[in-house]
Amino acid sequence: MTHIELKNIRKEFGGSVVAVKNLNLSIEHGEFLVLVGPSGCGKTTTLRMIAGFEDPTTGEILVENDVINELEPAERNLGMVFQTHALFPHKTVSENIAFGPRMKKVNKEIINDKVKEVAEMVKITHLLEKLPAQCSGGESQRVAVARTLITDPSAFLLDEPLSSLDAKLRREMRAEVDRLHKELNKTFIYVTHDQEEAMTLADRIVVMDEGEIKQVGSPIDIYNNPNSYFVADFFGSPSMNLINGEIVNSEAGKVFKSLILNVDLPKLFENSAPGPVTLGIRPEQIGISSSGDIKKKIYLVEPLGKDTLLYFETVEERELIAIVESNSSYRSGDTVALNLLPEHIFLFDSSGKRILN
Ligand SMILES: Nc1ncnc2c1ncn2[C@@H]1O[C@H](COP(=O)(O)OP(=O)(O)OP(=O)(O)O)[C@@H](O)[C@H]1O
Ligand SMILES: [Mg+2]
Repeated sequence: MTHIELKNIRKEFGGSVVAVKNLNLSIEHGEFLVLVGPSGCGKTTTLRMIAGFEDPTTGEILVENDVINELEPAERNLGMVFQTHALFPHKTVSENIAFGPRMKKVNKEIINDKVKEVAEMVKITHLLEKLPAQCSGGESQRVAVARTLITDPSAFLLDEPLSSLDAKLRREMRAEVDRLHKELNKTFIYVTHDQEEAMTLADRIVVMDEGEIKQVGSPIDIYNNPNSYFVADFFGSPSMNLINGEIVNSEAGKVFKSLILNVDLPKLFENSAPGPVTLGIRPEQIGISSSGDIKKKIYLVEPLGKDTLLYFETVEERELIAIVESNSSYRSGDTVALNLLPEHIFLFDSSGKRILN
């Protein structure tokens, strides 16, 4: 197991593009760390710097407390699995997997045994004599993982390894990656822009945006305690309802007022300053009943199987969504009362920061 640390890492391209700004991160022994964020936020650049394919402009990368900035990729003993798993088309699966050790002139018999061993681990023994063109997307991805496994790296760096697969296969492969991590007991750094993938795989999630870390935490923590509008909006499907409005004083305490709805705010916010804010509430934290202050008309009922989504009429572009059980009998056109569970109301200030009092 390997401990990897990034200290004040910055990466500029050509002086004008800052891909990564002052990143500090400590990845624990055996941890499954997921870097997640929108396209262009610096995920791949960060991973490539750890692997040694890019030099940081400033900052240090440490493995087991040794600075490795000057080491070549091959000397770092970190296994990288790329998004596009460029396999050699004219070599068999077996030859593709054996390529790395063969270059290093490892004994043929040892290589053959190793190929069998890693092929078994990723369940591709039956494909060893096939050519890459005869493999499906998921199978090719397994070959790519096997090719990295055979080098016996001290940690794995995976850059969106499943993004080219369809949704069902992606879920299956996700379980495989999880199993592999548990079996190998090694440090994994995994890049994705898929929030669901991050939530299901990670011990810890690092949320990035524009080259910066926005929040680090366990999946549950990130979901339940987002520190900003950005993180709140990024996680969850359907995403959190986010409503622009303002805090105003009333006799009973603080009230959130907006064009869509007005809510009495819980005690937590009694000292919050009046002014513009965004209220956030997850769709599953809105109770639906027949009586209450916030009356809304349903304009769409969307059954998802296990749950059903109710879409409410709003005046802003963003939809207001609640989740109910699939056996409920709501229909579009019905008017119902919404009950926003007070302990699940978030407020964000105009800079996007979470308001906590
Ligand atoms: N070789 C390069 N030369 C110039 N700019 C680059 C280079 N590589 C990356 N960038 C820029 O650095 C920023 C971060 O890119 P990066 O590839 O790390 O993003 P990412 O988070 O992996 O995005 P995606 O989800 O689309 O893969 C982007 O603005 C990108 O255009
Ligand atoms: Mg990328």
